[in-house]
Amino acid sequence: MDTKSLPVPVRRVFQVLALTLTAVFLSSCSQRTAPAPSPAKPVANAVPWWKHALIYEVYPRSFQDTNGDGIGDINGIIQRLDYLQSMRVNAVWLTPIYPSPLVDFGYDISNYEAIDPIYGSMADFDRLMTAAKAHHIRVIMDMVMNHTSDQSPWFQESRSSRTNPKRDWYIWRDGKGPGVPPNNWQSVFGHSAWTYDATTKQWYYHKFYAQQPDLNWRNPEVQKAMFDACRFWLDKGVAGFRLDAIPELFEDPQFRDEKVLPGKNVFGDPNLDSSLTENLPEVHDVMRQLRKVVDSYPGNRVLIGETYLPNIQQQLLWYGAHNDELQLPMDMQVGFLNKLDAGKFRAKINQAETELNGNMPLFVFDNHDNARSWDRYGDGKHNAAIARIIATMLLTTRSTAMMYYGQEIGMVTTPPKTKAQVQDPVGKTGWPKNKGRDGERTPMQWDSGKDAGFSTAAKTWLPIPPSYKTVNVQVESGQTDSLLHWYNQLIQMRKNDPALHDGQNIMVNTSDPNVLSYLRKNPGQGPSVLVAMNFTNKSQTVSYSLQAQGIQGNSATALLEDGGMASNIDLGHVVLPPFAIFIGQVQ
Ligand code: NOJ
Repeated sequence: MDTKSLPVPVRRVFQVLALTLTAVFLSSCSQRTAPAPSPAKPVANAVPWWKHALIYEVYPRSFQDTNGDGIGDINGIIQRLDYLQSMRVNAVWLTPIYPSPLVDFGYDISNYEAIDPIYGSMADFDRLMTAAKAHHIRVIMDMVMNHTSDQSPWFQESRSSRTNPKRDWYIWRDGKGPGVPPNNWQSVFGHSAWTYDATTKQWYYHKFYAQQPDLNWRNPEVQKAMFDACRFWLDKGVAGFRLDAIPELFEDPQFRDEKVLPGKNVFGDPNLDSSLTENLPEVHDVMRQLRKVVDSYPGNRVLIGETYLPNIQQQLLWYGAHNDELQLPMDMQVGFLNKLDAGKFRAKINQAETELNGNMPLFVFDNHDNARSWDRYGDGKHNAAIARIIATMLLTTRSTAMMYYGQEIGMVTTPPKTKAQVQDPVGKTGWPKNKGRDGERTPMQWDSGKDAGFSTAAKTWLPIPPSYKTVNVQVESGQTDSLLHWYNQLIQMRKNDPALHDGQNIMVNTSDPNVLSYLRKNPGQGPSVLVAMNFTNKSQTVSYSLQAQGIQGNSATALLEDGGMASNIDLGHVVLPPFAIFIGQVQ
């Protein structure tokens, strides 16, 4: 109703009535959405697509099965593109779907330019590319450059004789004596990183399983072969690569023993300082050359790194001194803090904002190698509220966001109950201390029907977790207080609100040990956004004074909140109930 024509007092009554009705409506929802932020139109984007993207990791084996064999497939991904589009996903990263003996479920590749029949055919892949494009979703492939499968023809040739032309494509050494490996290097998956090969009486190096021999990146033919594989997929239109185990590409050329540190790891091996087998400087030359390859294609193809790094200084190195290496080395320092500690998150998020030379961080809280964030951060009682905090950190900080399938519905880590059930060899070697990674790879929970809507098979490759009856896409789509709904609201806000989309990320109230608060500063004239999250199970009271950040007003209007807070709050006295979240506009 247009109230402008009414006399002023009457107009006020209408305005008060409208405000009251809005407030009543908002207070009836446990998670409230205030009027759309202004401007409500999507922000025009002249910068590369990946900069503000939402990238969604699909583990194809577990996403959607369409042929009833209990294993997900490419056609299943096609079938679920509508869902991904409805979540406004910009790109999917597919974990490896190349031919593989599947010792490491695809991270042991035997042919880099084909599709494993278990997932479908190249024609299916081409259909996926077309269908994804129609859904405005890009496809990112996983590229495993550090090692191949031992069944790769390259390795088969290499192991056949000491004089084979491909001998030097892998890392072969004499042992120190009979049955004694060349040095003390260890596999990430436990025990020695060297395996003796009786055919040629030498040892080969493998940072991962013995079935995953490391390539020798000091041989230029290896680089050529691998870059050719990249070109094969770039020619097919993929949007880029997630580079597996990339810090492990090079090893010490002198093959010296690594320094032994105190204590033992989960496999019972001594802890080693891995500085002779990880993060060697030579890798950066390769990254620069690979970047040239992707940059020779149109459309801002992207390089994402699997970069578990100890500090921000090392993180910065991966962008390249001239922004000529990876656009998005994953930041594992924020998402894998594994403790809901406001001070630690503040420090890490702030480092990513201030110490990466303006480069975009890529935050990740979940992937196929780690227990789900639901369990790593949950306290067993408030997991749902804590999952909303995780989602909020992922989607309201200034970063590109990476999600893992099922994260949005709160899938729970479901490890195998007995050793006999374990699929992941890590779990077989590490049982019972390390049960492997099956727990975070269980099938996607689509609905409450058979096999959670994932498959029609009598037996799926990993069991469907018991939680599927209530934790699934169908059920959560119909609930306004579900985690899925929360994710969708955040994703929409992040796209539409200029401050959340692109604003500087400024930490405020920096000495508060319980409440993490930051401001996303509007890059233009419009309102900024204050995000406040109570990390504790007790009510917390906070007072903000944001004048130094250019905010003159003393109230905030909620865009989204969780925990029953008012839609308009006085910045001088904010009471956050346990685990409450407040995201509101300030100016
Ligand atoms: C990292 C991958 O994410 C993991 O699943 C795999 O086992 C290792 N790299 C070895 O490729």
